[in-house]
Amino acid sequence: MTTSQPGILEPVPALGRYLEFGLQPDADPRDVLARLQDSAIGPELVVGLGPAPLALLGATVAGLRPFPALGGAGCDVPSTQADLWLWLRGSDHGELLHQGRRLQALLAPAFRLDQMIDGFRYDRGLDLSGYEDGTENPVGEAAVAAAIARDQGAGIDGSSFVAVQQWLHDLDHFESLPQGERDFIIGRRLSDNEELDEAPDSAHVKRTAQESFDPEAFVVRRSMPWADVSGYGLIFAAFGKSLDAFEAQLRRMVGAEDGITDGLFRFSRPLSGSYFWCPPLSGGRLDLSALGL
Ligand code: HEM
Repeated sequence: MTTSQPGILEPVPALGRYLEFGLQPDADPRDVLARLQDSAIGPELVVGLGPAPLALLGATVAGLRPFPALGGAGCDVPSTQADLWLWLRGSDHGELLHQGRRLQALLAPAFRLDQMIDGFRYDRGLDLSGYEDGTENPVGEAAVAAAIARDQGAGIDGSSFVAVQQWLHDLDHFESLPQGERDFIIGRRLSDNEELDEAPDSAHVKRTAQESFDPEAFVVRRSMPWADVSGYGLIFAAFGKSLDAFEAQLRRMVGAEDGITDGLFRFSRPLSGSYFWCPPLSGGRLDLSALGL
């Protein structure tokens, strides 16, 4: 039976570990990906492939492309497209470490680990700014419709696309602003999460209001805070049946339509950006038939 990878639609876990890999020079990813197919994929792991390994295998997945570098007034959105992405999910740091080691060893002949970031859930699912993240996520059938591809044929149906960015916050600056100004940056009131109609057009939830796009741009966001010696912020992850909804939102955030930059850029900036295709499962294992495997 074909399904989506279960970790995509599950709630955000207590702990996450994000591993980004690049292709080794002159590597042939075929054998490694075939071995990855032998691993059962449960809710504790989500796997995404970037455009380069697919191209090496002579495969195309319609809609998968490199993350676009964008910019606008006072904001810079870099593209740091990686080749393979693992999102380890759980509640035990040790388990995540061992699972990551196992997968890193399995992938090593073709993929080198370039980036490892630990994520965690804050309270009931807050961004480190204190605002609730995920309120307007579609749920149930609407989440499936937003995040999972269908009617595109065997090998693609049940798959998903994900946009992943590491954002670096400046909370000292954010917290120096009056509470009302902070609420206007987000477009919601911190105290009760109410949406503020009177917020300016730069407010984040006005920029990204999913029904306001044509076509409507729904995504399933599964972001997690991160922190290490270099700083802290949010690992933003948005799953979609394609990458178009995310990209429309991102373009509006940088002011590509009307020159108005999202208020978020006043206290946070993205350090990275990648797109991945998350293959479907068949019998609980990755279905890589779209890649000819
Ligand atoms: C620093 C990075 C970010 C932070 C801290 C952040 C935080 C938030 C918060 C607090 C909300 C309101 C509650 C909710 O509905 O979840 C929200 C909504 C939303 N955000 Fe973000 N966000 C970030 C980046 C992004 C990016 C890069 C995108 C897409 C390009 C995005 C898309 C959305 C969408 C679609 C909504 C719901 C809008 C609606 O339909 O009401 N966010 N975000």
